[in-house]
Amino acid sequence: MDNRPIGIFDSGLGGLTCVREVMSIMPNEDIIYFGDTGRVPYGTRSSSTIVKYVRQDINFLRSFDIKFIIIACGTASSAALPHITTEYDTDIIGVVDAASKQAAAATKNGVIGVLGTRGTINSGKYAERLGKIDPGFKVISTACPMFVPVVENGYANTKIAEMLAEEYLENIVKGGADTIILGCTHYPLLKNTIRKIVGNEVNLIDSGAAAADDAKRIMAKHNLLTDKTVKGRAKYYVSDTVHGFEELGSLFLSKKIDGDVAKIDIEKY
Ligand code: DGL
Repeated sequence: MDNRPIGIFDSGLGGLTCVREVMSIMPNEDIIYFGDTGRVPYGTRSSSTIVKYVRQDINFLRSFDIKFIIIACGTASSAALPHITTEYDTDIIGVVDAASKQAAAATKNGVIGVLGTRGTINSGKYAERLGKIDPGFKVISTACPMFVPVVENGYANTKIAEMLAEEYLENIVKGGADTIILGCTHYPLLKNTIRKIVGNEVNLIDSGAAAADDAKRIMAKHNLLTDKTVKGRAKYYVSDTVHGFEELGSLFLSKKIDGDVAKIDIEKY
């Protein structure tokens, strides 16, 4: 048993889709969330810059007495996690492994689509992980650079989003994928739009939620789950204005952000 908080971070707001799942399946856990809103997006940056940012994000979270870290960002998980896992004595997981395992369990025909930022898709980490689970899988990956700005600006359920989704999903639909990994934690907000293109039969794997499920399993194994019987508290930190975060964040969290939100200087970490 461990009553310390869980640390969760993302380049911005997308990681809140992971927080939402943590709150749902581990309601009594305390959460410290960091959204690097001053430096979002990570998806267009070089791998060395992302690794530098991720080290700072982790250092910030570790300035609290946390017990576990979830990298709730597809880009950071792909580009940085393999470089930094051995640097810390805190358990750290990302979204790639968790989402790949869920997709592998869900697919019936072995054709899996992966949607992600340019950084995530160019890293090839999803295809690599899925290939390790089953070399027979056919993986069709597509970078969707316009999705994050569309979501962050509140256009997730519009004609513009639908047109983009049609374009981005063309190869995946043509290839016959029965399972699609939403490999960026912003994309669950596009679920309805994506469903319009792929229909109801295709499995959509929410990578942030998958990471939350995996975190619960690993924390149980390592005896890190809380034994508190009261609802956990969440504290949110951002590297840009608090105002925008509170407003848009509620969309990602599917409820009003009810917790402290504070701005920090991430460059100090
Ligand atoms: N939420 C991030 C991810 O999962 C995307 C945003 C970004 O490019 O920073 O990849």
